[in-house]
Amino acid sequence: MGHMNEFSPLQIGNVKTAGPAVLAPMAGITDAPFRKVVARFGAGMVVSEMVASASLTTGQAEMVRRLEKTGGLPHIVQLAGNEVDWMVRGAKIAADAGADVIDINLGCPAKRVTNGYAGCALMRQPDFALELIEAVLGEVDLPVTVKMRLGWDDDTLNAAELAARAEAAGVNLVTVHGRTRQQFYKGAARWEPVRDVVNAVTIPVLVNGDIIDLLSARIALEKSEAAGVMIGRGAQGRPWIVGQISAALMGLPLPRAPEGVELADLIAEHYSDILSHHGRELGIRVARKHVGWYLEENLPEHSTLWRKSILTSLDPHHVLREIRAAFVDAEQEAA
Ligand SMILES: Cc1cc2nc3c(=O)[nH]c(=O)nc-3n(C[C@H](O)[C@H](O)[C@H](O)COP(=O)(O)O)c2cc1C
Repeated sequence: MGHMNEFSPLQIGNVKTAGPAVLAPMAGITDAPFRKVVARFGAGMVVSEMVASASLTTGQAEMVRRLEKTGGLPHIVQLAGNEVDWMVRGAKIAADAGADVIDINLGCPAKRVTNGYAGCALMRQPDFALELIEAVLGEVDLPVTVKMRLGWDDDTLNAAELAARAEAAGVNLVTVHGRTRQQFYKGAARWEPVRDVVNAVTIPVLVNGDIIDLLSARIALEKSEAAGVMIGRGAQGRPWIVGQISAALMGLPLPRAPEGVELADLIAEHYSDILSHHGRELGIRVARKHVGWYLEENLPEHSTLWRKSILTSLDPHHVLREIRAAFVDAEQEAA
């Protein structure tokens, strides 16, 4: 691989990322408040949660909310769908809402999505997948990217072939999650087969799956020869990790991870953002997941002690008080 720090920001058509490590789209998790926190620590790029183009065209509130811009970084909106008409209209709505890049989901393994021939099921219908991609490319004057898996199952590893066709159609970047649809999230992600995709295209490729720190990022990059990494679950409870990996890969000083009271303040701000973004009722439920991860990742010894009181409460003031107390407590114990 030569130099250790040879990675650069990625060029996606006329859009440039801030660095080579980006946040993965995760429905229910990477909402605008979370993307904002991840962006603050210098992530190369963040991607919206999957937006179902059919629901978007009917103006479903949750889907419209997913279009919200994060600010600072290019705004990437991911669309999922299985009808040309919906995809085209979804892309138009996303573009009008300020998207800088449209990402097309060819990787989601969920039954709900695959039964409608969307998400990863589209990898079994490459001609139709291309039709959807071409329709979006024809509708909006924006760079288009595609996110896929290695294939449907081990007998049909067609990511390289599909990526080459997508590039020929005009797609500007491909992300490959190193699992098949039939693996769902089981087993380990395989980074080596992603190299077949890298070799089949000239556009940048992002390697994705089970990258959780700088070491796993470097191994994934070495095995795949990809241009950058996409990080999903590894950023839960540690939103700074994406920016840290991005900086390290470019040989720049790492953004510092907050600790103690500073981290409690960050969580409090994230918490309030979630409640204003989703509304109080849904917000309390969404926030619970994030707070749980923050505790697990950053106060592993104390997390069980505080979890119950913090995670079962329906009173935001109580939650914020307890989070602060938990981190102050841990800090004092450490001192
Ligand atoms: C809860 C959850 C929601 C996800 N939602 C999406 C999604 O909306 N669109 C998408 O392309 N991938 C989605 N993914 C897949 C991730 O983007 C990523 O490909 C996968 O988690 C592997 O990367 P990781 O090991 O870094 O998490 C989701 C994954 C999880 C765990």
